[in-house]
Amino acid sequence: MSTQKSIAIDGPSGAGKSTLAKALAKELGYLYVDTGAIYRTVGLQACRTGTNPEEEGAVAALLPGLEIGMQYGPDGLQHMYLNGEDVTDAIRQHEISRYASCVSALPAVRAFLLERQRAMARENDVVMDGRDIGTVVLPQAGVKIFLTAAPEARARRRWQELNQRGEEADYDGILQDVLERDQRDTTRAASPLRQAEDAVLADTTELDLEQSLALLMHIVKERLQA
Ligand code: DC
Repeated sequence: MSTQKSIAIDGPSGAGKSTLAKALAKELGYLYVDTGAIYRTVGLQACRTGTNPEEEGAVAALLPGLEIGMQYGPDGLQHMYLNGEDVTDAIRQHEISRYASCVSALPAVRAFLLERQRAMARENDVVMDGRDIGTVVLPQAGVKIFLTAAPEARARRRWQELNQRGEEADYDGILQDVLERDQRDTTRAASPLRQAEDAVLADTTELDLEQSLALLMHIVKERLQA
């Protein structure tokens, strides 16, 4: 039996999972694991090799040759490595989001990554965020949070983020992307995004970052004491 503590945070894209999970991990002194980054790394390899990300056989053939590494830099950031190359920035490209979403729907990819994620939680106290952490990866997690926000609020935050970076951003297009990704992530057969029965729902539609973090800390303290 593992004596490590685990906090599972699941929810749709743009709900603030990574920012909040990272802040929560820092407050608690736990390791933050962004599982979406791992799926993105597989998606990046599919993209680079010209592999159709929807073709399970072709993507599965890539997996044995994939060396995915995760390391924490002095900047405190989770760096991702693909066959030794630092791909932390490359996996954030817009195109790679689509590849990641497609490869993450493939049972062969999910099976390949499952044990790897569980091993991290066996060896460390973790705050792990993703889509199926509370339901599939760490069903025994001591605290489970389903973090969400209205699609319009998530699209607005993404729009603001791009705007601040000086990138061209079209709100309607972003909202469309958000709705399409939600549809793909919640309706796929393999580990669809859904709230675990014992997860606490946290809706951040009306909350700013500070208020959202306070809400999460409150949930975690209550659950850890229960
Ligand atoms: O959280 P993110 O947007 O970086 O995740 C990228 C993709 O990976 C997203 O489409 C959902 C998928 N994903 C998943 O299926 N399961 C996880 N545990 C994490 C991410």
